[in-house]
Amino acid sequence: MSSNREKPKKPNPGDFRYAVEGARIPWHAVGERYNPSDALAVVKFLFPPSGENDAAYGEALGEIGRGLEGLFAAGRSASKLTLGREVEKAEELAREQLGVKYASFTCNWTTGMETAYKLGGVGPGDEVIVPALTFIATVAYPLMIGAKVVFADIDPDTLGLDPADVARKITPRTRMIVPVHLGGYACDMDPIMQLAGEHDIFVQEDAAHALGATYKGRQLGTIGHFGGYSFHEVKNINSFGEGGLLVSNHELGKQFGKARFLGLDFTKRIPDWLYDVTALDDRFGRPQIASNSSATELQALGFRLQFERLPEIIASRRRNAEFLCASFAAEPAIILPPQDTAETASSHHLFPLRIDAGALNGDIQSVKFKLKEKGVTEIAHFGPLYKFEILRQLGYEQKSIAATCPRTEEMFRHGYTHLPLYPLDDEQVAYMAETVLETVRALKR
Ligand SMILES: Cc1ncc(COP(=O)(O)O)c(C=O)c1O
Repeated sequence: MSSNREKPKKPNPGDFRYAVEGARIPWHAVGERYNPSDALAVVKFLFPPSGENDAAYGEALGEIGRGLEGLFAAGRSASKLTLGREVEKAEELAREQLGVKYASFTCNWTTGMETAYKLGGVGPGDEVIVPALTFIATVAYPLMIGAKVVFADIDPDTLGLDPADVARKITPRTRMIVPVHLGGYACDMDPIMQLAGEHDIFVQEDAAHALGATYKGRQLGTIGHFGGYSFHEVKNINSFGEGGLLVSNHELGKQFGKARFLGLDFTKRIPDWLYDVTALDDRFGRPQIASNSSATELQALGFRLQFERLPEIIASRRRNAEFLCASFAAEPAIILPPQDTAETASSHHLFPLRIDAGALNGDIQSVKFKLKEKGVTEIAHFGPLYKFEILRQLGYEQKSIAATCPRTEEMFRHGYTHLPLYPLDDEQVAYMAETVLETVRALKR
């Protein structure tokens, strides 16, 4: 490899390993580089053969291979693969687009949430209030550290936290309220923020599904003290399969960088060394220990590329959702989800199909069964977390919790499922709408 390939053009001053400008033996690359055939394998991974035209595929691949050899000869191979300029650019864009002071791009959103729980001062024995209906990731950290997860009931319209039930479940030990904007539909944030303010409790919005969705003119995920998004491969946008973004306007967000990488503190140095390692200061000034949620440069690049086209992505999903609503409007046994307004709009991650089980000979289980028979995929929709074995193993009393979440029980067992909206073509959406209508009508009393 020629020596010009070894030199990073712009050393990254934020990372001590790259502050080597002028060094004859730079430490900017401590790992094996990727070569053109590796890059070709990545291209092939992203665009595998369809099996329909192998000859054309082979020809195109050959051309790209030759092109990559040319690039390699004329350029150099990337040496900074994690927490570099791409991560910085992703965060800059996120701050600008979401109007937040602090943004941290992480390897996934579960780890982003972990940082928010830590900075929010959640410790063993503390309570966090979450909606009963969400994904297990929402509560992974509190369960891990022995905090108590308190399940609040849902509002059937939004499938998100019911503020009235949150009010009933607040105790002096409550440290955090975690609204989840399921499927991209906003929880009613005003009363939640008001309750939190009255009781001096922090709010973390789990906006895993809700990048680009709004509530009363504000971006979901930016209303609470902390919030964030997932870019796992099934979300509206992804970052090569996994990724997360933690955001905040609170001063605690200053610690995001340190929180992401094991507490390494480049603003300080121990004698004869390059940095110090310090604890995070949580909101009560208590030390919390950082973990490693670093994201790769490729993840950050993948995120930025798709984030830049988010408005078009949401618009095409919205078209599909509107088509479903228009198709279902005349059928009273189907209850439509909240409609977008100029101020409050879904990201249309998933379409909540809600039925009036009282009007049918059967319920959502019968609907799901029939839909599956007719080839409409069953999305693994969200189940009440307290039903999972792990909660029983940790000593949670499932039956008594269920009794405090009657609407969650009703919706999960009888009332709702999720339909997909992801790039479905017109014919697929029309088939899905027709099949749902046929199924529901056949079950009518
Ligand atoms: C509601 C909810 N919260 C949190 C997460 C965790 O996100 P990630 O997979 O990026 O860790 C998910 C992921 O599917 C989710 O659906």
